[in-house]
Amino acid sequence: MRKLLIAGNWKMYKTISEAITLVNTIKAGVHSINGVDIVVCPPFTALDAMSKSVERTSIELGAQNMYSATEGAYTGEISPQMIKDIGCRYVILGHSERRGYFKETDDMVNKKVCLALDYNLNPIVCIGETLEQREQSKTKEVVRTQFENSLKGLTVDQMNNIIIAYEPVWAIGTGKNATPQQAEEVHKYIRQLIVNTYDRTVSENVRILYGGSVKPDNCGDLMQKGNIDGALVGGASLKAESFIQIIAKAKEISDNNK
Ligand code: PGA
Repeated sequence: MRKLLIAGNWKMYKTISEAITLVNTIKAGVHSINGVDIVVCPPFTALDAMSKSVERTSIELGAQNMYSATEGAYTGEISPQMIKDIGCRYVILGHSERRGYFKETDDMVNKKVCLALDYNLNPIVCIGETLEQREQSKTKEVVRTQFENSLKGLTVDQMNNIIIAYEPVWAIGTGKNATPQQAEEVHKYIRQLIVNTYDRTVSENVRILYGGSVKPDNCGDLMQKGNIDGALVGGASLKAESFIQIIAKAKEISDNNK
């Protein structure tokens, strides 16, 4: 049985004091909720404060990115060792904003994934098609290529520590989410790719999150689907109320039928 996971990607929002206020409100709202993994991914500058704020709570920390080297002359970059040191357990890799604005390729993502795993971080690896690709019926082809190349060369043990986030680019920050059917179809396909590359046991272990305009009012129908194991939430994670509602919904679903 896969535990549902709700991760908040705060992107380039929140100063340290704003982040503290947000996480404290989230903490109060989820303190009685168990059985759901909760992750917040604040900007780097707030990680230290967040790591203190979430001590002795069930909230885990994630970074939004890292560089693919342990240390060195890479001005402006952050290493896996540094994010591990500051208290992160997760790291988002290959987000479509990184792939789009910062020209990250599958190869670059793959290097980051491998190094993150060396530091016992759990990578949340994002894959997903653009609107143009969907309209050209290339969704599966794009998702398969990103899956194969971003996760290239991983052992079974390493794959068991991966979380995949299917995020159709056209649904991110647009208010236009994939329908539960559209998302489930791709999630099922991704799970089959895991069976083909590894085996059924691994495919049953790996969590596949959906991301793209997840809100309290659409998250329930999405997470009811058999292959959707939680959500990577952007906009709705910036407000405690909506993020808590999404987590509460995940709890209700996992108590009832998952
Ligand atoms: P959104 O972002 O929920 O604002 O669409 C999701 C993401 O980018 O991970």
